[in-house]
Order: sequence, then structure tokens, then C-alpha cells
Amino acid sequence: MEVSKAHRPVFHFRPPKNWMNDPNGPMYYNGIYHLFYQYNPYGSVWGNIVWAHSFSTDLINWIPLKPALYASKPFDINGTWSGSATILPGNKPVILYTGIDEQNKQVQNIAFPKDLNDPLLQEWIKPDYNPVITPTPDMNASFFRDPTEGWRGPDGHWRVLVGNRKGNRGLALLYRSRDFIHWTKAKHPLHSSADTGMWECPDFFPVSSDGSQEGLEASVRGDGVKHVLKVSLDHTRFEYYTIGHYLYEKDRYIPDKSYADNSTGLRYDYGNFYASKTFFDAKNKRRILWGWANESDLNTTDTAKGWAGIQTVPRRLWLDENGKQLRQWPIKELETLRLHQVKMNDVSIRKGNSVEIKGITAAQADVEVTFHLPSLSDVRLEPFDPSWSVDPQRLCGEKPSTVGGELGPFGLLTLASENLEEYTAVFFRVFDAKPKPVVLMCSGGIRSSISEEMYKPSFGGFVDVDLSDRKITLRSLIDHSVVESFAAGGKTCITSRVYPKLAEGSNAHLFAFNSGAETIKVKHLKAWNMGSPRMN
Ligand code: FRU
Repeated sequence: MEVSKAHRPVFHFRPPKNWMNDPNGPMYYNGIYHLFYQYNPYGSVWGNIVWAHSFSTDLINWIPLKPALYASKPFDINGTWSGSATILPGNKPVILYTGIDEQNKQVQNIAFPKDLNDPLLQEWIKPDYNPVITPTPDMNASFFRDPTEGWRGPDGHWRVLVGNRKGNRGLALLYRSRDFIHWTKAKHPLHSSADTGMWECPDFFPVSSDGSQEGLEASVRGDGVKHVLKVSLDHTRFEYYTIGHYLYEKDRYIPDKSYADNSTGLRYDYGNFYASKTFFDAKNKRRILWGWANESDLNTTDTAKGWAGIQTVPRRLWLDENGKQLRQWPIKELETLRLHQVKMNDVSIRKGNSVEIKGITAAQADVEVTFHLPSLSDVRLEPFDPSWSVDPQRLCGEKPSTVGGELGPFGLLTLASENLEEYTAVFFRVFDAKPKPVVLMCSGGIRSSISEEMYKPSFGGFVDVDLSDRKITLRSLIDHSVVESFAAGGKTCITSRVYPKLAEGSNAHLFAFNSGAETIKVKHLKAWNMGSPRMN
């Protein structure tokens, strides 16, 4: 089938055609990055899932290989679902993944590279002794999947987590092994939380808490280290994470008290972003995050266009110096795609005005902007109702970019048509609150397409930023049907999938705007045309 070029991202990871969901088993091995992903070889809706496989030397240009895992044995005959890679001592990669067996039970299987001398690790062997982990009789075998990367405890034994649900409690079940092949279920889960439903795609890893942004390998522990647990909730289709302490002796994870350990908790991305997974990049000593951004047009459109699903750009991830949240930033390699640059400096924008950023291909661009605000002591701010704090997305829906406030809304109109019938607004709004103003970030919205029938949410997240320097920054990566934005140096990130009808390709424009009563200033803005890497 012909694959439609309309709305097709160019520098975001995607297969040549068909359906893609979760990123699987990302790893760096002998100079090469690998990414596997849930893929349907036969169509552009979910089904017939295999582990498709691509490799790269720079995380930007990708070359496809044949699928690494596909249904072929009794222990995975109904599907090869999500899982992770671990590099075992002696530099030996191994994969743990969920197989759907003959009875449609979810079981965990192991696979090894057939030939460690093949630098591309093209063929994988699934030993006949699989499965290596099976559900116990008291478990619901339909809620038992997505094994994590393994790590080693102080006793030298391996641990992995498997996502699970009991009643409506979400659990990260813990398994231990001496040899990575024989696994025993621990008496207690590593962690669990009431009323969160199935925990899909758990991810558990250490982060430096000593102010360093360096990433840590999965088994690192000790002083200056905290841990992150992320889970994906199938009933809300959002993820959340907590930061906390891993009690090694008890094999328990205790989230810090300040965070909600449920769907109202912190998120990597407050938009269209799911089933994410990190890996440690030993080459550059950083932890990198991959996440899936599903289509949000109609299923019938996906069938017609012949492709569905992208991965967000690889993001470096680290613990913010305040210790209270993670930060993310597109990997520096992405900047090698920057071509022609345009700049704007010291442009004031008064209420109801917008300024076009001309001279770039606005459908495929990277934009960095610093907004300069008036002194907060001189302005009146909209009052903040504390009940709004649990649902920023709803607030963005109720107060879109066109509803004027005091300080904000201001920001960018991306993928905009010339006369602004269409645009995806990415913007801020500042509210009065104690002890400090509340900053709301929104992305998306009803105006993103003149097409009526699709899902056009305005996503929202709060930005924990100190405005005393009167500045706020925003970076947006615009790629045809995706707008991936990073506020305040990666404190709050939102990805929107949007399908403009008028503002497509060379008809797309980019504006800075302000609908608030207070004048704001674009202090610095740089925008680049983005090049087209080799993408599978
Ligand atoms: C998450 C998920 C996983 C599962 C996979 C199947 O999107 O549902 O839990 O392993 O996708 O494709």
C-alpha cells in the first residue's frame, strides 16, 4: 500500500510504514544504538505485534533491520509484547519480553543474540526453556507484562520488575535471579499503589542527586543517588513518575512524600506520550528517554494513510537541582539537523498582537525563545483557584489562547495558516498564588485543525519556575504533525499530535503572540529549518 506523505514527521523516529507503538529494549552496544519497537508488519492499526529493529550511530539517522522477535513458539505464538534489554557482564546483551502464549497468558521470555560478533545483532535466539517467568495461579494472566531492564542488588543477584494489577491496585512485581535465567518472585512487590489500575511498562532507574547531570547505569547505588519509578496507566493512557529511595536491604522503593503516587502525579510529558523507556548511554554517560506518541486522528485515517505512531525525539533526562522533579532536553545530536537560522531580538508584543517569524520552513523547525516579562510587582495577575491544581489540562481547555488574561496567554502559534484559521498554540499563563505565582503551560487545542471530527485536546502542565528573573524559555520541535515543547529548560514538556488542513507543508507559518493585557517581550528567538535524516 502507498504511504501518505501528508502529516508524516521527518526527523521523529518512525518505521517506513504501518503501525508502531512502544519503544522496546533501547540500548548502546559496541558503538551502535539499537531501538526495537512494537510493530504490525501487516497494517497501520495495532495487531500481529513483532519487535521491529533499527540501528543508528548517532540516534538521529536510523537504518532498519529485519524484526528481531516475532511469534513462533508456544510461549509467544500470540504475540511478542514489550520488554527491555540488559547488558550482562562480559558485554553480553539479552532481552526479556512478554510473550502471549498458546492459552493467551502473558509470560516473560528471554532471547539472546545469535552471534555476538555481528555488530548489528540481527538475529535473536529464543531458547526452548522459555518462558522464564510465569504468572502464579493467584494472578490474572492478562495483567502481567513489560519486564524492565535488570539491575544487580548488593548481594550480586539480578532483579527485574514486571507490571501487574490486582483488583484496581497497580503493582511492580519484583523477581530475582543469580543467572538471569532462573527467576524467583519476591514476597513483596518493589512498589504498588491503590486505584491506579494496570501498571504497563514500568521503568526503574537511579539518578544522580548530587547536582550532576550525568546518567547512571541501572545497578548504581549509594550516596548521591535517588531512584525514579515510572508507570504507564492503561485506563488514563498517561504515565506518571515518582522520585524516592530504594531500600536495598528490603528491596522496597519508597517515593518521597511530597508527590502524588497516582494519575495526578508528575509526568515526563503532559501531552501525547506513553509506554516510555529509558536507557543508559555508556558512550556519553547520559540517561536517554524514548516515548511513543500515538496518532490522534481517526482510525479510518490511519488505515488510509498507511502509517501510525512515532517516537518523540530522544531526550536526555536528569534530576533537577531542586531535587524535586526530572528535567529533559532533546539530545544534542538533534542540533546537527539545524539548517538555515532566523533570529528575532527585543520585540515587544502588545495585547491581541502576533508577530510572524519569517524565513523558515515552519512545518519542520526547531524554535528556541526567551520571553521577557514585566516586573511581577507591577502587574495584576489572574487569581488562581487551588482546585485547578489537579487538572491543568482542563484549565487549558477552559482558558484557550484566545481568552485574554493579565500576564498571558503568550507564546507561539505553530503550524499556523497564513490568516490564523488554524494553529497549534503553545503558550503560558501566569496566575496569582501564594507563595509564588503559578505558571501554566498549554499545547494543542481546537484550532489545530479546521477538520471537525478529530480529537483536539489542549494539553496542560504547570511549570515550577521562579519568575524573579522575569524570564521564561520555550523550545518547540515542529515536525508536520507533531509539536514537542520544552518549557523552562525542560521542566515541563508537552507533545501534541495535530493534523492541520491549511497549515501543511510549505503553507505552515510560525508566530509569536500575546493575548494578555500586559505587554511581553520576545527577548531572543532563534528558529532553524530542520534537515531530513535517514529515517528507516
Ligand atoms: C503499552 C502496551 C504494553 C504491551 C504492548 C502491546 O502500550 O499495551 O503493555 O506490552 O503495548 O503492544
